[in-house]
Amino acid sequence: MQSVDFRSESHFEGFRKLYILNRTNNSILVKMKETKSGELCIFKYFMPPIIPLDNIEKEYNIQSSISHPNILRILGRFRANKYIAFQMPFLPGGTLTEAIQKKRIIYPKSLAIIFRKLLEVLKYLHKRRILHGDISPNNIMFETTDFTEPNPILIDFGCSQVVHMDNLVCEYAGTKGFVAPEVEKRIPHGLPSDIWALGALILYIVNHNQDLSSPMLSSLISSMLVPNPSQRPSASKCLEHEYFNIGE
Ligand SMILES: Nc1ncnc2c1ncn2[C@@H]1O[C@H](COP(=O)(O)OP(=O)(O)O)[C@@H](O)[C@H]1O
Ligand SMILES: [Mg+2]
Repeated sequence: MQSVDFRSESHFEGFRKLYILNRTNNSILVKMKETKSGELCIFKYFMPPIIPLDNIEKEYNIQSSISHPNILRILGRFRANKYIAFQMPFLPGGTLTEAIQKKRIIYPKSLAIIFRKLLEVLKYLHKRRILHGDISPNNIMFETTDFTEPNPILIDFGCSQVVHMDNLVCEYAGTKGFVAPEVEKRIPHGLPSDIWALGALILYIVNHNQDLSSPMLSSLISSMLVPNPSQRPSASKCLEHEYFNIGE
């Protein structure tokens, strides 16, 4: 990606730039402070045409059309000469990748809360025929670092698509290790590829901490990781699994 010199960029009126949080192939994330309220937020910068304008529009349109407590909200969209930026709330709890590295998920009950909330997010999205397309540890963040009652937030709608029966997705998208077999094989795919990715994600957490595993959890994960997408349970069906009755 072409380097961006932020020193030459005048900051947006009403915001103070703090520091660069992250750079990926697609975007640059900058932590900002709203001068008036003192509130922290992030600006996700894109530089068209490195990222096609259509893709940026699609990410914005999908993410700003939905409203769910466990999905990152878009607060605004800005244009500044060559950049487009989305303003979103800053999440101080870090990514799932960090939570795993720092061994923050220690109780089976905490994992069950995370799993249930993420399934509820998929139920919400899939009801609206929205495929997230990149459920992975760097795209799940936490509201706080309190992991007794974890609140996962799904971010990054850069791979999301609205899918219909007669309009399946053909593009390969996602994060290595969490990509469903049909996506890997470039077969037109739909909503069940998110179910695979979530199953793989929960398995990934459990593989880093065997104390979180249980036969019931394994049975649910295995049902989500069946190769045939039409045999995978929907998010609603997963939520009915006995695993979620434990400790309730
Ligand atoms: N709201 C946020 N608060 C704090 N950090 C964030 C926030 N959103 C994203 N990040 C950090 O920036 C990274 C990249 O953001 P993401 O939206 O996934 O961009 P990309 O589409 O380039 O992958 C995330 O993995 C996370 O580490
Ligand atoms: Mg991402």
